[in-house]
Amino acid sequence: MCGIVGYTGPNPALSKVIEGLRRLEYRGYDSAGVALATTLSQPLFVAKKAGKLINLENELASDHASAKSGIGHTRWATHGGPTDENAHPHISDSGKLAVIHNGIIENYVELRAYLEKCGYKFNSETDTESVVHLLSEEYKTTKDLSAAMRLVCQKLRGSFTLLAIHSDDPETIVGARRNSPLVVGLGEEENFLASDVSAFIAHTKRALELGQDQVVTVTPNEVNVTDLFGNGVTPKAFEITWDANSAERGGFAHFMLKEIFEQPKAISDTLAGRFNDEGKVQIPELKNLNLGIDRILILACGTAFHAGLIGKYALEEWSKIPVDVELASEFRYRKPVLSKNTLVITISQSGETMDTLMALRYAKELGAQTLSVCNTIGSTIPRESDAVFYTHAGPEIAVASTKALLTQIVGIHLVGLFIAQEKSSLSTAQINSLAAELSALPNKVEEILETVEPLREMTRGFKEATSVLFLGRHVGFPAALEGALKLKELAYMHAEGFAGGELKHGPIALIEQGTPVIAVLPPESSEIAEKMRSNIQEIKARGARVIAIADSSIDIDVPHLIRIPKTIELLQPILSIVPMQVFAYEMAVARGNDVDQPRNLAKSVTVE
Ligand code: G6P
Repeated sequence: MCGIVGYTGPNPALSKVIEGLRRLEYRGYDSAGVALATTLSQPLFVAKKAGKLINLENELASDHASAKSGIGHTRWATHGGPTDENAHPHISDSGKLAVIHNGIIENYVELRAYLEKCGYKFNSETDTESVVHLLSEEYKTTKDLSAAMRLVCQKLRGSFTLLAIHSDDPETIVGARRNSPLVVGLGEEENFLASDVSAFIAHTKRALELGQDQVVTVTPNEVNVTDLFGNGVTPKAFEITWDANSAERGGFAHFMLKEIFEQPKAISDTLAGRFNDEGKVQIPELKNLNLGIDRILILACGTAFHAGLIGKYALEEWSKIPVDVELASEFRYRKPVLSKNTLVITISQSGETMDTLMALRYAKELGAQTLSVCNTIGSTIPRESDAVFYTHAGPEIAVASTKALLTQIVGIHLVGLFIAQEKSSLSTAQINSLAAELSALPNKVEEILETVEPLREMTRGFKEATSVLFLGRHVGFPAALEGALKLKELAYMHAEGFAGGELKHGPIALIEQGTPVIAVLPPESSEIAEKMRSNIQEIKARGARVIAIADSSIDIDVPHLIRIPKTIELLQPILSIVPMQVFAYEMAVARGNDVDQPRNLAKSVTVE
């Protein structure tokens, strides 16, 4: 979490930094701040403010046109509350050195004690402030910010992306990273540093990935990367394929709504080129994996975890390989048994979620093969995996994940089909028919979105509800979990997803007169269709106001029925989740909540 941006070049740095922060604000919005090198060897200009970026922008009276380099930060608070004092940048006693940080410095207490003994004064409760004073201390002897940064990083424990500027060398920005993202954007006589490429895609499509424990020194015309001991490193270059306009709202009221409406295209992009003319599945990215596996384990967090839960059904049925799905944060702290015959699939939109990254490393240590299903090219999780399947959903800015999820599910399905093809666990005819079903999904999602208005209006009628329950069976169960998660995240309402079969074992006690329940029904051909219908009768009899999501094969008498196009049961969540996304979105709007930046959340959770 936390968004970091740096700019050095001939243009006014402040506007570039603020523009970058605007695009990175989804990463955290507890406070924002900037530091600009305006005058050689004079104190830096620093402004920082608690709350969203707009509060900082309102404070900035001048554009500080003379500043040609600057750094900016948007924070998701970990150490110290969201106050002006705790906002980044943090400044050295001389005011000439500024540091911004994403991550957690685990040994900050001991560093702070040491630095206080040396006479440094602390003005915040953050772990970051220790870094600026330590950097200042090392700079006293080295008189070289990059060398000082390398020495500091050797003394830090934990995770960090750091950017620093010093007014003695105002065109230079020094960055460093460990377990936290940092990319370099290569412009014409200008360069950028940022947590992710969305901060600079409007200016350049050329970028460099930085590896673990690397330090980068950036001036308008030069980028120099070393390890922590000063040995030169050649960073990996990549082209950004995302369209700059896709990081704009483009006429939609919120990024989330735009991203919901982008889902048909996102799914098409995930599917593009995956079936050849004979209907064979093509995923050359998996060629390095040995598919003689006897177990698949999916690890992920949040919405990506739900993609895993949904994907499991098809993956196991098609590949005939047992599939487990586990929260990455739980997996890390137990003693699992894995072998080289286990394929661990991590799913992550950002490719930076700390729990997923650590779970991936743990799985590798235990000898498993690893595949990442990811949206963000060049991010850490795919970089550290044996193979990667990129979903190509385009930038997802809203904190609540929508198009990333649907494309993750499609991605897992494609991987499942590919394994089935390689193992011959499905016939060619079966694969062809599934390929046709998958290929038809973009139009079907489009159809749902074209008829979404009545659903939006109906949602507003539930605005005063205190709790909403979600019900499903088979793949409808994880779809219900996702529906509930979306509503919690956005509407701040009590929401829970249940498996229909579990109702009678407890959750039915929650049903009162008028309790809204969103029920996901399978196609009539499913063996659980009748059972779901009975579940709905049971809750109706106890006063639930049922909103059913079903295709036209299902006949049911409920107060609200949302129709979705027909598809096979295994793929149905890709359609049934869409109305639940819209429900959560509309509810958040109706309740006056900040849709794109819900309270207490951040899009990319790069701390444990
Ligand atoms: C955060 C976000 C969720 C997301 C989860 C996993 O909690 O708020 O929307 O699903 O992280 O993120 P990832 O980038 O790994 O998919």
